[in-house]
Amino acid sequence: MFHWTQQKIDWYQQAAEHCGYHHGVAGLVRRYLPDGSAAADLGCGLGYLSMELAPHLSRLTCVDISPEATAFLSAQCRRRRIGNLSVVCGDWTQWQPDEPVDAVVLSFVNGVIHQLPLLFQKSRDLVISVMALSNSDNSSYGLDDLLPPRPRPQYRLRECWEDVAPVLEARGIPYERTEFALPFGQWLADRDEVRAFFRHYYSLEFPEQRLEEYLAPRRQPGGGYYLDNTKRGCVVAIRRSRVPREVLEGEND
Ligand SMILES: C[S@@+](CC[C@H](N)C(=O)[O-])C[C@H]1O[C@@H](n2cnc3c(N)ncnc32)[C@H](O)[C@@H]1O
Repeated sequence: MFHWTQQKIDWYQQAAEHCGYHHGVAGLVRRYLPDGSAAADLGCGLGYLSMELAPHLSRLTCVDISPEATAFLSAQCRRRRIGNLSVVCGDWTQWQPDEPVDAVVLSFVNGVIHQLPLLFQKSRDLVISVMALSNSDNSSYGLDDLLPPRPRPQYRLRECWEDVAPVLEARGIPYERTEFALPFGQWLADRDEVRAFFRHYYSLEFPEQRLEEYLAPRRQPGGGYYLDNTKRGCVVAIRRSRVPREVLEGEND
């Protein structure tokens, strides 16, 4: 279960505000999401993608179950004077817009495989999902140079393209899709923070010698470390008009 701690919020904010990742993803989402649409971002997290999309939409409702994440996004919207974005703290599966929106967006949130009928109860036209290509990619942060491939148990249940594609094919659901590889590097203040970061996200303890080797080329002139990283994923768009009726009327599982 994903839980936003203050530490995680700080790391994510640091990465998000120093790279163009969300701007890049928003550009790809907008290929499918017409300007002026009313949309909802389900499981919006800190809302960096939502804040990139909002200026192009008539209104955007951002739903997340985490009080920490929604409080963060509300504060950002006030600070940035974003007026057409509303924030709801709650479970997206229970949330229903007063009237269906034109599109729902999910980014690194499960829904396409098991809850497509439910998503189309909320959306008139489009379900757009941003997802990882695979759950077995171990190349993040250049760790493969130093360590053998590692299983990522925390991602076992995360919806990724490798798992979604065969389901869409089997159900005869047409889709449009764009792949991306965008920078999402991490700035960390010192070795303790590097250790804490890898412990948190990878359950990984660096042996001292390995940490030294790893950090040497990543040391920054002004202090601290920059861990280069490329996030690989895709944007998948599914149009109601092309989804077989039996799927729309089917059960969520
Ligand atoms: C991996 S994060 C992705 C956040 C954001 N969409 C992004 O791309 O950065 C998953 C998010 O889904 C939220 N979440 C998980 N289950 C949820 C649910 N049932 N309803 C609403 N939000 C949920 C979590 O709190 C978390 O913010």
